[in-house]
Amino acid sequence: MRAINENTITDVALEQMAATPNPRMKQIMASLVRHLHAFTKEVDLTPEEWLEGIRFLTAVGQKCTAHRQEFILLSDTLGLSSLVIALHDKRATEAVTKSSLLGPFYRQDAPMMKLGDSIISKSDGTEVVFYGRVADSAGRGIPNALIQIWEPDETGNYDLQKHDPSVMDLRGCFHADAEGRYYFRGLCPLGYMIPMDGPVGDMIRAQKRHGYRPAHIHFVIGGPGYRELVTALYVAGDNHIDSDTVFGVDESLIVSVNKNDPSSPLPKLPSIRYDFRLAAAKDKMSGRVGADPSQITAKAH
Ligand SMILES: [Fe+2]
Repeated sequence: MRAINENTITDVALEQMAATPNPRMKQIMASLVRHLHAFTKEVDLTPEEWLEGIRFLTAVGQKCTAHRQEFILLSDTLGLSSLVIALHDKRATEAVTKSSLLGPFYRQDAPMMKLGDSIISKSDGTEVVFYGRVADSAGRGIPNALIQIWEPDETGNYDLQKHDPSVMDLRGCFHADAEGRYYFRGLCPLGYMIPMDGPVGDMIRAQKRHGYRPAHIHFVIGGPGYRELVTALYVAGDNHIDSDTVFGVDESLIVSVNKNDPSSPLPKLPSIRYDFRLAAAKDKMSGRVGADPSQITAKAH
Protein backbone atom coordinates (compact mmCIF):
# COMPACT_ATOMS: atom_id res chain seq x y z
CA MET A 1 0.00 0.00 0.00
CA ARG A 2 1.27 3.42 -0.94
CA ALA A 3 2.07 5.68 2.00
CA ILE A 4 -0.07 8.84 2.12
CA ASN A 5 1.97 11.79 3.29
CA GLU A 6 2.63 15.38 2.36
CA ASN A 7 4.87 14.28 -0.50
CA THR A 8 2.55 11.70 -2.08
CA ILE A 9 -1.01 12.91 -1.47
CA THR A 10 -1.16 15.18 -4.55
CA ASP A 11 -0.22 12.40 -6.97
CA VAL A 12 -2.48 9.88 -5.21
CA ALA A 13 -5.47 12.23 -5.49
CA LEU A 14 -4.70 13.02 -9.15
CA GLU A 15 -4.40 9.31 -10.01
CA GLN A 16 -7.83 8.64 -8.54
CA MET A 17 -9.34 11.35 -10.79
CA ALA A 18 -7.42 10.29 -13.89
CA ALA A 19 -10.36 8.45 -15.50
CA THR A 20 -12.59 11.57 -15.64
CA PRO A 21 -14.17 11.30 -19.12
CA ASN A 22 -14.74 15.04 -19.67
CA PRO A 23 -11.27 16.34 -20.66
CA ARG A 24 -11.89 19.95 -19.62
CA MET A 25 -13.27 18.90 -16.23
CA LYS A 26 -10.26 16.61 -15.81
CA GLN A 27 -7.85 19.45 -16.61
CA ILE A 28 -9.57 21.97 -14.31
CA MET A 29 -9.92 19.61 -11.35
CA ALA A 30 -6.34 18.31 -11.62
CA SER A 31 -4.98 21.85 -11.71
CA LEU A 32 -7.22 22.88 -8.81
CA VAL A 33 -5.93 19.99 -6.69
CA ARG A 34 -2.29 20.76 -7.52
CA HIS A 35 -2.66 24.46 -6.67
CA LEU A 36 -4.77 23.82 -3.57
CA HIS A 37 -2.19 21.38 -2.23
CA ALA A 38 0.69 23.74 -3.06
CA PHE A 39 -1.12 26.59 -1.30
CA THR A 40 -1.74 24.43 1.77
CA LYS A 41 1.94 23.51 1.98
CA GLU A 42 3.10 27.08 1.33
CA VAL A 43 1.15 28.48 4.29
CA ASP A 44 1.56 25.29 6.41
CA LEU A 45 -2.21 25.34 7.03
CA THR A 46 -3.29 24.19 10.50
CA PRO A 47 -6.50 22.20 11.22
CA GLU A 48 -7.99 25.26 12.99
CA GLU A 49 -7.29 27.48 10.00
CA TRP A 50 -8.70 24.87 7.62
CA LEU A 51 -11.89 24.73 9.71
CA GLU A 52 -12.07 28.53 9.75
CA GLY A 53 -11.96 28.43 5.94
CA ILE A 54 -14.76 25.85 5.86
CA ARG A 55 -16.81 28.02 8.24
CA PHE A 56 -16.24 31.07 6.05
CA LEU A 57 -17.31 29.33 2.82
CA THR A 58 -20.35 27.85 4.60
CA ALA A 59 -21.37 31.36 5.73
CA VAL A 60 -20.89 32.67 2.16
CA GLY A 61 -23.25 29.98 0.86
CA GLN A 62 -25.80 30.58 3.62
CA LYS A 63 -25.91 34.29 2.75
CA CYS A 64 -26.95 33.53 -0.86
CA THR A 65 -30.60 33.81 -1.87
CA ALA A 66 -32.47 34.32 -5.14
CA HIS A 67 -31.71 38.04 -4.70
CA ARG A 68 -28.25 38.07 -3.13
CA GLN A 69 -25.09 36.46 -4.42
CA GLU A 70 -22.33 36.43 -1.79
CA PHE A 71 -20.14 34.06 -3.86
CA ILE A 72 -20.02 36.52 -6.75
CA LEU A 73 -19.10 39.23 -4.24
CA LEU A 74 -16.33 36.98 -2.91
CA SER A 75 -15.05 36.29 -6.42
CA ASP A 76 -15.18 40.03 -7.19
CA THR A 77 -13.35 41.12 -4.01
CA LEU A 78 -10.60 38.49 -4.49
CA GLY A 79 -9.90 39.78 -8.01
CA LEU A 80 -11.00 36.46 -9.52
CA SER A 81 -13.87 37.95 -11.56
CA SER A 82 -11.57 40.62 -12.95
CA LEU A 83 -9.00 37.97 -13.92
CA VAL A 84 -11.61 35.79 -15.64
CA ILE A 85 -12.80 38.82 -17.63
CA ALA A 86 -9.25 39.78 -18.63
CA LEU A 87 -8.72 36.26 -20.00
CA HIS A 88 -12.08 36.44 -21.79
CA ASP A 89 -11.09 39.73 -23.47
CA LYS A 90 -7.78 38.20 -24.52
CA ARG A 91 -9.63 35.44 -26.39
CA ALA A 92 -11.57 37.96 -28.53
CA THR A 93 -10.48 38.03 -32.17
CA GLU A 94 -10.78 41.82 -32.43
CA ALA A 95 -9.80 44.75 -30.21
CA VAL A 96 -13.05 46.22 -28.90
CA THR A 97 -14.52 47.79 -25.74
CA LYS A 98 -13.06 46.25 -22.59
CA SER A 99 -15.23 44.13 -20.34
CA SER A 100 -15.94 44.96 -16.71
CA LEU A 101 -17.65 43.08 -13.89
CA LEU A 102 -21.29 42.08 -14.06
CA GLY A 103 -21.33 42.11 -10.26
CA PRO A 104 -24.03 40.60 -8.02
CA PHE A 105 -26.87 42.98 -8.96
CA TYR A 106 -27.68 42.10 -12.57
CA ARG A 107 -31.29 41.03 -13.19
CA GLN A 108 -32.72 39.55 -16.31
CA ASP A 109 -36.11 40.77 -17.56
CA ALA A 110 -35.58 44.48 -16.90
CA PRO A 111 -38.33 46.53 -18.61
CA MET A 112 -38.04 47.24 -22.34
CA MET A 113 -38.01 50.99 -23.00
CA LYS A 114 -37.90 53.39 -25.93
CA LEU A 115 -34.85 55.47 -26.82
CA GLY A 116 -34.87 58.64 -24.73
CA ASP A 117 -36.90 57.09 -21.88
CA SER A 118 -35.77 57.40 -18.27
CA ILE A 119 -34.77 54.34 -16.21
CA ILE A 120 -35.57 56.34 -13.04
CA SER A 121 -38.89 55.39 -11.46
CA LYS A 122 -38.41 55.66 -7.68
CA SER A 123 -35.22 57.62 -7.08
CA ASP A 124 -34.04 61.20 -6.79
CA GLY A 125 -30.79 62.68 -7.93
CA THR A 126 -29.17 64.44 -10.86
CA GLU A 127 -30.61 63.27 -14.16
CA VAL A 128 -28.19 62.82 -17.04
CA VAL A 129 -28.53 61.61 -20.60
CA PHE A 130 -26.31 58.73 -21.67
CA TYR A 131 -25.77 58.51 -25.40
CA GLY A 132 -23.49 57.18 -28.11
CA ARG A 133 -23.21 54.39 -30.61
CA VAL A 134 -22.85 50.63 -30.58
CA ALA A 135 -20.56 49.65 -33.45
CA ASP A 136 -18.44 46.77 -34.71
CA SER A 137 -14.64 46.75 -34.64
CA ALA A 138 -14.54 48.73 -37.92
CA GLY A 139 -16.88 51.40 -36.57
CA ARG A 140 -19.99 50.30 -38.47
CA GLY A 141 -23.13 50.81 -36.36
CA ILE A 142 -24.90 47.67 -35.16
CA PRO A 143 -28.61 48.21 -35.94
CA ASN A 144 -31.03 47.28 -33.21
CA ALA A 145 -28.29 46.24 -30.71
CA LEU A 146 -29.84 45.28 -27.37
CA ILE A 147 -28.56 47.36 -24.45
CA GLN A 148 -29.32 46.38 -20.85
CA ILE A 149 -28.54 48.93 -18.14
CA TRP A 150 -28.62 49.02 -14.34
CA GLU A 151 -27.28 51.43 -11.72
CA PRO A 152 -27.60 52.15 -7.99
CA ASP A 153 -29.74 54.96 -6.56
CA GLU A 154 -28.65 58.16 -4.82
CA THR A 155 -28.02 56.23 -1.58
CA GLY A 156 -25.75 53.72 -3.31
CA ASN A 157 -28.24 50.85 -3.25
CA TYR A 158 -29.62 48.77 -6.11
CA ASP A 159 -33.36 48.05 -6.22
CA LEU A 160 -32.64 44.45 -5.10
CA GLN A 161 -31.16 45.78 -1.85
CA LYS A 162 -34.06 48.14 -1.06
CA HIS A 163 -37.39 47.02 -2.41
CA ASP A 164 -39.58 43.99 -2.67
CA PRO A 165 -37.79 41.96 -5.38
CA SER A 166 -40.76 42.39 -7.72
CA VAL A 167 -40.02 46.16 -7.87
CA MET A 168 -37.50 47.26 -10.48
CA ASP A 169 -35.91 50.69 -10.50
CA LEU A 170 -32.94 52.12 -12.38
CA ARG A 171 -32.93 49.26 -14.87
CA GLY A 172 -33.94 49.16 -18.49
CA CYS A 173 -33.44 47.54 -21.89
CA PHE A 174 -33.18 49.54 -25.11
CA HIS A 175 -32.75 48.73 -28.77
CA ALA A 176 -30.27 50.95 -30.62
CA ASP A 177 -31.61 52.61 -33.79
CA ALA A 178 -30.79 51.58 -37.38
CA GLU A 179 -27.33 53.23 -37.10
CA GLY A 180 -26.53 51.70 -33.71
CA ARG A 181 -27.21 54.95 -31.85
CA TYR A 182 -28.68 54.91 -28.34
CA TYR A 183 -29.73 57.44 -25.71
CA PHE A 184 -31.58 57.22 -22.43
CA ARG A 185 -31.95 59.13 -19.19
CA GLY A 186 -30.69 57.91 -15.83
CA LEU A 187 -29.07 59.11 -12.60
CA CYS A 188 -25.63 60.62 -12.63
CA PRO A 189 -23.70 57.58 -11.31
CA LEU A 190 -22.58 57.57 -7.68
CA GLY A 191 -20.10 55.41 -5.81
CA TYR A 192 -21.16 52.98 -3.09
CA MET A 193 -19.89 50.54 -0.51
CA ILE A 194 -20.31 46.86 -1.39
CA PRO A 195 -22.70 44.91 0.90
CA MET A 196 -20.77 44.66 4.19
CA ASP A 197 -23.33 42.75 6.30
CA GLY A 198 -22.10 39.27 5.33
CA PRO A 199 -18.91 37.19 5.54
CA VAL A 200 -17.34 39.07 2.61
CA GLY A 201 -17.83 42.33 4.54
CA ASP A 202 -16.12 40.71 7.57
CA MET A 203 -13.19 39.78 5.33
CA ILE A 204 -12.96 43.30 3.88
CA ARG A 205 -12.92 44.84 7.39
CA ALA A 206 -10.31 42.32 8.60
CA GLN A 207 -8.11 43.37 5.69
CA LYS A 208 -8.57 47.09 6.47
CA ARG A 209 -9.97 47.74 2.97
CA HIS A 210 -12.42 50.62 2.46
CA GLY A 211 -15.05 48.54 0.63
CA TYR A 212 -16.03 51.23 -1.89
CA ARG A 213 -16.67 51.04 -5.60
CA PRO A 214 -16.20 54.22 -7.65
CA ALA A 215 -19.27 55.75 -9.37
CA HIS A 216 -20.37 53.59 -12.29
CA ILE A 217 -23.25 52.33 -14.42
CA HIS A 218 -23.51 48.78 -15.79
CA PHE A 219 -24.12 47.69 -19.40
CA VAL A 220 -24.73 44.37 -21.14
CA ILE A 221 -24.77 44.88 -24.93
CA GLY A 222 -25.43 42.30 -27.61
CA GLY A 223 -26.56 41.77 -31.17
CA PRO A 224 -26.88 38.78 -33.50
CA GLY A 225 -23.43 37.77 -34.74
CA TYR A 226 -21.58 39.70 -32.01
CA ARG A 227 -19.90 38.66 -28.80
CA GLU A 228 -21.95 39.94 -25.87
CA LEU A 229 -20.22 42.77 -24.04
CA VAL A 230 -20.53 43.02 -20.25
CA THR A 231 -19.04 46.27 -19.07
CA ALA A 232 -19.48 49.44 -17.00
CA LEU A 233 -18.65 53.11 -17.34
CA TYR A 234 -16.80 54.83 -14.49
CA VAL A 235 -17.02 58.55 -13.71
CA ALA A 236 -13.75 60.51 -13.71
CA GLY A 237 -12.78 62.22 -10.48
CA ASP A 238 -14.27 59.68 -8.07
CA ASN A 239 -12.14 59.30 -4.91
CA HIS A 240 -12.00 55.50 -5.34
CA ILE A 241 -11.31 55.34 -9.06
CA ASP A 242 -7.80 53.95 -8.37
CA SER A 243 -8.79 51.61 -5.54
CA ASP A 244 -12.00 49.84 -6.61
CA THR A 245 -12.74 47.05 -4.09
CA VAL A 246 -13.63 44.70 -6.96
CA PHE A 247 -10.94 45.80 -9.48
CA GLY A 248 -13.36 46.73 -12.28
CA VAL A 249 -11.97 50.03 -13.58
CA ASP A 250 -10.06 50.32 -16.81
CA GLU A 251 -8.75 53.67 -18.09
CA SER A 252 -10.68 53.16 -21.36
CA LEU A 253 -14.00 52.94 -19.47
CA ILE A 254 -13.68 56.28 -17.62
CA VAL A 255 -16.16 58.95 -18.73
CA SER A 256 -16.86 62.57 -17.78
CA VAL A 257 -20.13 64.39 -17.25
CA ASN A 258 -20.53 67.19 -19.78
CA LYS A 259 -22.76 70.02 -18.54
CA ASN A 260 -22.84 71.83 -21.87
CA ASP A 261 -23.04 69.42 -24.78
CA PRO A 262 -24.73 70.80 -27.91
CA SER A 263 -24.36 67.46 -29.72
CA SER A 264 -26.38 65.61 -27.04
CA PRO A 265 -29.84 64.44 -28.13
CA LEU A 266 -31.17 66.18 -24.97
CA PRO A 267 -28.87 69.24 -24.69
CA LYS A 268 -30.67 70.71 -21.66
CA LEU A 269 -29.43 67.83 -19.48
CA PRO A 270 -25.85 67.02 -18.46
CA SER A 271 -24.58 64.21 -20.66
CA ILE A 272 -22.27 61.22 -20.66
CA ARG A 273 -21.22 60.02 -24.10
CA TYR A 274 -19.69 56.65 -24.87
CA ASP A 275 -19.31 54.65 -28.08
CA PHE A 276 -19.16 50.88 -27.57
CA ARG A 277 -17.41 48.43 -29.90
CA LEU A 278 -18.43 44.78 -30.10
CA ALA A 279 -16.33 41.93 -31.49
CA ALA A 280 -17.67 39.44 -34.02
CA ALA A 281 -18.98 36.33 -32.28
CA LYS A 282 -16.45 33.53 -32.24
CA ASP A 283 -18.32 31.32 -29.86
CA LYS A 284 -21.51 31.42 -27.84
CA MET A 285 -19.75 32.30 -24.58
CA SER A 286 -21.30 35.48 -23.22
CA GLY A 287 -18.43 36.51 -21.01
CA ARG A 288 -20.76 37.10 -18.10
CA VAL A 289 -18.99 36.50 -14.82
CA GLY A 290 -22.17 35.97 -12.89
CA ALA A 291 -25.87 35.89 -13.60
CA ASP A 292 -29.17 37.01 -12.19
CA PRO A 293 -28.89 35.65 -8.59
CA SER A 294 -32.23 33.83 -8.99
CA GLN A 295 -30.80 31.84 -11.93
CA ILE A 296 -27.85 30.67 -9.83
CA THR A 297 -29.93 29.45 -6.89
CA ALA A 298 -32.41 27.83 -9.31
CA LYS A 299 -29.59 25.78 -10.84
CA ALA A 300 -28.26 24.79 -7.42
CA HIS A 301 -31.46 22.97 -6.42
FE1 LIG B 1 -22.40 48.15 -9.48
